[in-house]
Parts: sequence; structure tokens; C-alpha cells
Amino acid sequence: MRAAAPQTLSLFAASLALVIVSTLPSCYPSKPPAGDSGQDTGPSVGPHPAGWAAAGEHGLAAKLQDLECASCHGLDLLGGSAGRDCDSCHPSGWRTDCTWCHGGVDNSTGAPPLDMDDASTGLSFPEHTAHVGGPRHPAYGCVECHVMPADVLTSGHLFVEDDSAAVAELTFSGGLAATGSYAGSGSCSNIYCHGDGRGAGGTATSGDSYDCGDCHGDAGSARDLSGEHREHIHEGVVCVDCHRDTVSSDTQIATPDNHVNGHVEVAFGESGMSWNGSSCDGQCHGERHSNERW
Ligand code: HEC
Ligand code: HEC
Ligand code: HEC
Ligand code: HEC
Ligand code: HEC
Ligand code: HEC
Repeated sequence: MRAAAPQTLSLFAASLALVIVSTLPSCYPSKPPAGDSGQDTGPSVGPHPAGWAAAGEHGLAAKLQDLECASCHGLDLLGGSAGRDCDSCHPSGWRTDCTWCHGGVDNSTGAPPLDMDDASTGLSFPEHTAHVGGPRHPAYGCVECHVMPADVLTSGHLFVEDDSAAVAELTFSGGLAATGSYAGSGSCSNIYCHGDGRGAGGTATSGDSYDCGDCHGDAGSARDLSGEHREHIHEGVVCVDCHRDTVSSDTQIATPDNHVNGHVEVAFGESGMSWNGSSCDGQCHGERHSNERW
């Protein structure tokens, strides 16, 4: 039913979650409100206490891996030595239904991912929505910062070989900031995305806000920009004159998909000007350039 793992959580997944809830056997409790212990429903089952069938009990325990479910219910969760198949209550599809466990409601990506303990406060990374949604850069997939699991059994996700239960591991190697590192508490270093556009080296801290100049120097000084930037900007040539596929002014990103996408778009406002990757050719700002190096 599903193709490859989605890059962002989709509305489709959200609607699938509704299908799952509505097709669960009616004798089982639906998700109880936060704080409901569920202790008053049903007898104890196997090693589990009474009320275990409630989502706030076994569901939360599964997400926090309070017990290693797979050790008894099987590495495929189809019964194992416990003889009870998770899919006997959860219809097929739950294993790839990303928003069922993660989905927030900020926008159609399912962002931000909910905190794993079901609390609505204390999110470890409040900037999720800004990253997976834009608007000053492309909508990034989870893979920019995490290994992207294909389903709940993907190694390292939660049930199988996850040696840091209930902690989301940061892994930059699949994204633009491949050499970046994470020090915990929303603190990133050596990342391309928060750098000056000329390689890795940027740093970012959760909670801070970023203006244009924080990454590549303010428009007036162009101190962090390469080659002939400084000279041109002092002559009054502005960003949009040479980067019109990206910005509409010195402070406005017009096409987020072209900004912090791993590629510098050089596109001139002046017709007849061209850029070959290292030099400029043509007539602009009253000057003739003949293959002038940047
Ligand atoms: C007796 C029926 C039953 C069995 C067996 C069962 N579940 Fe559940 N589970 C439920 C119901 C009902 C819910 C609440 C419905 C919902 O949240 O959509 C739930 C909720 C969950 C949730 C919470 C999702 C969330 O984010 O709120 C997780 C995780 C979960 N189950 C995992 C498992 C695993 C893993 C197994 C097998 C080891 C399992 N369940 C076996 C009935 C069952
Ligand atoms: C030590 C082994 C063991 C572990 C670990 C374990 N289970 Fe079970 N579980 C069982 C057995 C045994 C049963 C009872 C099977 C039966 O008689 O139907 C059971 C039953 C269940 C049921 C059915 C409850 C009901 O009322 O019908 C759910 C749901 C469940 N387990 C979820 C989980 C989840 C989620 C985890 C991990 C957080 C987990 N279990 C870990 C052994 C285990
Ligand atoms: C720009 C980087 C970035 C992107 C993109 C990103 N994350 Fe995260 N994510 C983080 C950071 C940082 C944390 C906090 C880790 C910590 O310190 O515990 C985190 C934590 C989480 C958590 C733990 C829940 C919480 O907030 O406590 C989950 C689950 C998660 N991310 C899932 C996702 C999913 C799913 C996507 C794609 C829709 C995604 N992330 C995209 C950086 C990112
Ligand atoms: C049954 C609940 C559940 C489902 C369904 C689920 N996840 Fe997760 N996911 C978790 C939990 C719990 C974590 C917390 C971190 C951990 O234990 O590693 C997590 C962590 C993550 C992370 C952070 C990296 C990591 O592994 O720590 C990403 C990204 C992620 N999930 C994406 C997805 C995607 C994409 C899907 C759908 C294909 C999905 N998840 C389905 C429960 C779930
Ligand atoms: C006269 C044309 C011109 C103007 C004006 C200009 N740029 Fe550029 N810019 C370029 C060219 C050409 C490159 C490609 C350099 C390379 O790849 O060696 C570039 C590259 C960049 C890069 C990639 C990193 C770097 O330093 O090479 C950034 C970031 C950037 N420009 C931002 C800006 C901003 C912000 C402004 C306005 C304050 C601006 N540019 C104004 C021509 C210009
Ligand atoms: C968090 C860091 C960051 C912030 C904030 C930022 N940029 Fe950039 N910018 C980059 C990086 C990295 C590049 C390198 C090229 C790429 O990947 O698109 C870039 C490239 C550019 C370019 C070159 C054209 C291109 O397509 O790459 C222009 C022009 C530019 N930025 C303008 C701006 C403006 C205007 C703002 C403020 C609205 C801004 N930037 C804010 C990091 C940033």
C-alpha cells in the first residue's frame, strides 16, 4: 500500500491513523485521555497488570520501551513466545503509520513530532515545524537530521536494536550537513545549513533566531561572502541582481526551494550576463566583464 518511507509525515498517514482507530475491535478501549491509568479495565494478562490493554499503559510502555516487547512478542511482533500478536488488535498498516505515534498538528507534515511520553509540553526540539516546513528553505525531510526508519521494526528505531530507548538519535550523514555533529540539548555544530554558504562550519542552538546576517554577514558588509561580493555591494549592486532565482531583495527569500538547498543559484537580472561556475561574462552595472574571475 505504501511506497518508500516518506520524507515527511503525510496527511495520508494521518487519515490512515483514523482508519486504524475506527477499525479496532470495539471491545477494546480507545486511547484514554492523558493521565488515565487504565488500571480499572480487565484482568491481568501474562506478566502484565490489569488494564494493560489500554493505550496509556502498553502503548506508552512500548514507546518508552519500559519492557522489551520483542523479546516475548517476537522480533516480528507476531506473537513470539508470548503467543499474542500485536496485529491481532492493530490492523495491518500500523507499522508504517508514522503520524499515529509521531503526529503533531502544526501543518500537513504531521509536525512537530510529539514528545514520546505523550506530554504536549517539554518537546526536545521546538524548531521541528520550522525545519520540516520552511519558509526560508525547502521543507526538509527527517533524513536531514535522523536515520529515516521504514517501519517500526527498522533497526535502531524502537523495537529492534535501539540501545537508547525513548531518545531520538541525531544522524546528519544522510543530509546536507553530512559532517555535522550534535551535542544534545538542541546544540549543533559543523553544519552547512547554518554556515556562510561556503561549506560546513555553522553552529546552531535551539531557541535562537537567525537573520540573514547571522549566516552570511549583513548585506552592508558582505564580510562572510566570497570573491567580488564586497566590491559589488559597495558599488550598490544588490543580492537580487545576481541571485534572482533565490531572493527578491536583500532581506527576502522569494524561492525557498533554492535557498540552503546545497547549491548556490547565480541568476542575473541583467540579460546577456552569464556565470560559468568561476567567472562572469557580459555587460552589467555599466561595466564590461570578459570572463572575469569571481
Ligand atoms: C488487546 C488488543 C491489543 C493488543 C494485543 C495490542 N494493542 Fe496496542 N493498542 C490497543 C488499543 C485499543 C490502543 C489505542 C488505540 C489507538 O491509540 O489508536 C493501542 C495503542 C497502542 C500504542 C499507542 C500509540 C500512540 O502513540 O498512542 C502503541 C505504541 C501500541 N498500542 C503498541 C502495541 C504493541 C507493540 C503491541 C504488541 C506487543 C500491541 N500494541 C498489542 C490494543 C492492543
Ligand atoms: C516477559 C514477556 C513479555 C514481555 C517483555 C512483554 N509481554 Fe506482552 N504479553 C506477554 C504474555 C505472556 C501475554 C499474554 C498472552 C495471552 O495469554 O494471550 C502478553 C499479552 C500482551 C497484551 C494483551 C493484553 C490483553 O489484555 O489482551 C498486550 C497488549 C501486550 N502484551 C503488550 C506488550 C507490550 C507493548 C510490551 C512491551 C512494552 C510487552 N507486551 C512486553 C508477555 C510479554
Ligand atoms: C533540522 C534537524 C531535524 C529535522 C529535519 C527533524 N528532526 Fe527530529 N529532532 C531533532 C532534534 C535536534 C531533536 C532533539 C533530540 C534530543 O536532544 O533529544 C529531535 C527529536 C525528535 C524526536 C523525539 C521527540 C521529541 O521532540 O521529544 C522525534 C520522534 C523526532 N525528532 C522525529 C522526527 C521526524 C519524524 C522528523 C521528520 C518529520 C524529524 N524528526 C525531523 C532534529 C530534527
Ligand atoms: C509504534 C509507534 C511508532 C511508529 C508507528 C513510528 N515510530 Fe518513529 N519513533 C517511535 C519512538 C518511540 C521513537 C523514539 C526514539 C527511539 O526510541 O529511538 C521514534 C523515533 C523516530 C525518529 C527519530 C530517530 C530515531 O530512530 O530515534 C524518526 C525520524 C522516526 N521515528 C520516524 C518514523 C517514521 C518515518 C515512521 C513511519 C515509517 C515512524 N517513525 C513510525 C515510535 C514510532
Ligand atoms: C555581482 C553579483 C553578486 C551579487 C551582487 C551578490 N552575489 Fe552572492 N554570489 C555571486 C556569485 C557569482 C556567487 C558564486 C561564487 C562561487 O561559487 O565561487 C555567489 C555566491 C553566494 C553565496 C555562496 C557563498 C559564497 O560566499 O560564495 C552566498 C551565501 C551569496 N552569494 C549571498 C549573497 C548575498 C546575501 C548577497 C547580497 C548581500 C549577494 N550574494 C550578492 C554573485 C553575487
Ligand atoms: C541559517 C543560515 C542562513 C540564514 C539565516 C540565511 N541564509 Fe542565505 N544561505 C545560507 C547558506 C548555507 C547558503 C548556501 C547556498 C545554498 O545552499 O542555497 C545561502 C545562500 C544564499 C544566497 C545565494 C543564492 C543561493 O541560491 O544559494 C542568497 C542570495 C542568500 N542566501 C540570501 C539570504 C537572505 C536574504 C537571508 C535572510 C532572509 C538569508 N540568506 C538567510 C544560509 C543562510
